[in-house]
Amino acid sequence: MRDDPAGGMTTESLDLLVDGASRRVDVAPAKRLSRVLREDLGQTGTKVGCDAGDCGACTVLVDGEAACACLIPVAQVRGCSIETIGGLSEDGQLSPLQSSFLRHGAAQCGICTPGMLMAATALLRQNPAPSREEVEDGLGGVLCRCTGYQAIVDAVLDTRSNQVRPDDPPAMEAVGARAVRRDGVGKVDGTALFADDISPPERTLDLRVVRCPYPAAAVTVGDLDRWQQSVPGLVSALAAPAVPGSNSFGIYPDLKDQPVLVENRARFLGEAAILLVGPQPVLDGIDPSDVPVTFTEVDAVIGIDAARDAEPLHPGMDDNVLIRGRVASGDIKGALRESDVVVSGTWETSFVEHAYIEPEAGWARCTGEGGERRIELFVTTQTPYMDRDEVAHVLGIAPERVRVIPSVVGGGFGGKLDQSVQPLLAVAAWVTGHPVRIAYDRPESMATTTKRHASEIHATFGFATDGTLTAAEIHGDFDTGAYASWGPTVAGRVPVHATGPYKVPAVKATSAAWYTNAPPAGAFRGFGVPQVALGHEALMDEAADRLGIDRLEIRRRNAIAAGDKTPTGQTLEASVGLVACLDALAPRWEEFRNIVAASRRDHGPIRRGVGIGVMWYGCGNTSMSNPSTLWLTLKATGALTLHNGAVDIGQGSYTIMAQIAADAAGLPLSDISQITGDTDLTPDAGKTSASRQTFVSGKAAELAGADLRQSLLRLANAGQEATLRLDGSTVTVTDGEGQRHIDLTTLPADEDGVVLRGVGTFDPPTTPLDADGQGVPYATYAFAAQIALITVDTELGTVKVDRMVAAHDVGRAVNPTLVEGQIHGGIAQGLGLALMEEYLPGRTANLHDYLIPTVGDMPSIECLLIEDPEPHGPFGAKGIGEPALVPTAPAILGAIRDATGVVVGKVPVLPHRLRAAIRAQQSEAAE
Ligand code: FES
Repeated sequence: MRDDPAGGMTTESLDLLVDGASRRVDVAPAKRLSRVLREDLGQTGTKVGCDAGDCGACTVLVDGEAACACLIPVAQVRGCSIETIGGLSEDGQLSPLQSSFLRHGAAQCGICTPGMLMAATALLRQNPAPSREEVEDGLGGVLCRCTGYQAIVDAVLDTRSNQVRPDDPPAMEAVGARAVRRDGVGKVDGTALFADDISPPERTLDLRVVRCPYPAAAVTVGDLDRWQQSVPGLVSALAAPAVPGSNSFGIYPDLKDQPVLVENRARFLGEAAILLVGPQPVLDGIDPSDVPVTFTEVDAVIGIDAARDAEPLHPGMDDNVLIRGRVASGDIKGALRESDVVVSGTWETSFVEHAYIEPEAGWARCTGEGGERRIELFVTTQTPYMDRDEVAHVLGIAPERVRVIPSVVGGGFGGKLDQSVQPLLAVAAWVTGHPVRIAYDRPESMATTTKRHASEIHATFGFATDGTLTAAEIHGDFDTGAYASWGPTVAGRVPVHATGPYKVPAVKATSAAWYTNAPPAGAFRGFGVPQVALGHEALMDEAADRLGIDRLEIRRRNAIAAGDKTPTGQTLEASVGLVACLDALAPRWEEFRNIVAASRRDHGPIRRGVGIGVMWYGCGNTSMSNPSTLWLTLKATGALTLHNGAVDIGQGSYTIMAQIAADAAGLPLSDISQITGDTDLTPDAGKTSASRQTFVSGKAAELAGADLRQSLLRLANAGQEATLRLDGSTVTVTDGEGQRHIDLTTLPADEDGVVLRGVGTFDPPTTPLDADGQGVPYATYAFAAQIALITVDTELGTVKVDRMVAAHDVGRAVNPTLVEGQIHGGIAQGLGLALMEEYLPGRTANLHDYLIPTVGDMPSIECLLIEDPEPHGPFGAKGIGEPALVPTAPAILGAIRDATGVVVGKVPVLPHRLRAAIRAQQSEAAE
């Protein structure tokens, strides 16, 4: 043993056997095996999601048994055989299991994939032909936030074939093909680089953030410089005055209300106050109470009700309302008065944590000198261009001096649309001149990043006796937390969607986002629409029962269709596939109802129920320009490259954009390589949010492909019907006139060596909304309906979702496997919203007290894809990311009501809440 020169810890030379190779490390014996693999042996294929044995991303095999490497002190495995994802492939060939993951689309973001593969490997060695239940048991220790597990289980059950991928589709047949994920190999062999997997090799320092320990506090900073000099090895300690530009950031240009580092007032628990920069062992050795910063707790504003009466949290505000939203049409009072049936209700939802398995991480470094000095960031992000502009704002430099390179993103769901590590890294690297890296641990990630807005929804709907909706009045209050983040987007999107996808002659829909001392609430798959959908769907159910109309039928009677006007006065011209969704579901609805009816013969505590949820979702930003630009370039060598800035967070835009561009150009998918996300190398394709990438960036990809094709046809003087073939530096153009050959080496090249550049830009046609919310907020909407079959234990209050069927109008399924993957994952998150997930600031700090669905919680899922083409969309396609989640919770809550007769007004419907509601109902019945 000897002292570790970096941190004074005792180290020991240990011999390990990793993936069949002997490795010697000189480390502290108690160091976690996961850290030794990643930091000392460079085997970053093994991931760290929680460091607590909750997520299973770090699963490895120790003497053949699956184990969490984050729970094992390295000395404990001396002499053991350790197997990681790095040993699964042989001679560069994927194993049958890895290949099956690729074929089935079982890796979306890919961050859980190493753990899943190792758990499955252990299972298959013991049991080469497991049943579905045995696979689910075998994978039960590994969490996936993206896939809903179904594709993973299918992949483990289907390892007979060693086919890596089906043949690439031929030219003009990529759109609609189940092409395998084009970034998939790195995700199944562990070589994909997530944000914490690499950093600059030299001089890189670590970053630790000192954070406010209270929801609200007065802050004073002492003599940091003097203190820093007293800490050996600490390179820098930075407070707010060190921020070179503006100490503020925020989504909206006129609403940058969040400080990078607090000045004199902290507004949420975990808010950043001081940056400490130095080697990790030095940072680990600092007791935060020694840092000269004082947090004096003051009364906090917790919850919307408290915010109504509290002093404004932000100077210059009259109250704590960040923003209000409104859509109004028709005579709401008169319409409600004249309705035959009026139903009302109130619903409350909790904060929800994104719980992506990859915590926020990245690094920053400076390049160049003087006026040429720039900064580069490698971070996990859904929005590289917005990151670039925010970092420029914080550093006080031009955006062109910032380069953002997105890592492979281990899940986002809206949570990586906000700034987290970016401004902190930028300030630390810019001020110190060192490359600086950070990876949040799970508690830091959960305490400090944005959440789904907690909400209170109040709604009243009026109906005629035939079930026709006559009026809808809705108000939603949203807890937007300490800072604005995406609060304005939620407040704007909710009133537009508040009625659900129904024809309603009189509407008043309003919203308000309230500042509180909670963590900022931001974007989370649906921007408030999942919350308000609970209200409109519950009222449709209640009206159906009151009027004696089948619940699917009442939705069908009111379903909005092509030619109808929305509450914002927009006439929907085309691609309105809601009725088709409901019709597709009808046979399963009948089947589920029969199952439930049969179960009613048993009067025991176990009850079955069936529910339906319907939704619509505007694709793209609300009433705002949100353009995307892509390029498809051709070099003299024949290199065909899609410059694709649409960040793939697991949903598949890397693959989708290439499929679209290939067919638009008329060249095979296999010809296309890609550059993605890097703000120096790709044009701006906007944010991966609002279910916009397939629709908006996809259209840009289509236009770029068509533009390149047009250039080639022009050079060959050929017509649109011509076919193209690319062989090295020769393009062969064939039409009825015969063949022409274009020698690309004869064409002038630009400074990048590009001889032809197809450019595509698309900005969906929308208009601003007036004071009554009238206008065209979205160019198109996605529609969907889902049904759930559940089992309730009325004594325990537990709910098991047995089956779900999801019908989604996606315009055109560019890649059905990826579309189904989004639906599976959306349903998993919707199930969590309905039954499990409740983020309590300051209390839920990790993935063992914040529960997300495991493989055992998931129902079987059947997807029905409806293709009602969208004229503006690429090959008719529109979005699926958020629509997949929105109808799930309403369907489950409807099924609970069907099973038990009770309406639980607060989600998640935890067992104690459901049990209390059932008991209250029983007491009422007994009186
Ligand atoms: Fe499983 Fe993303 S693919 S967490």
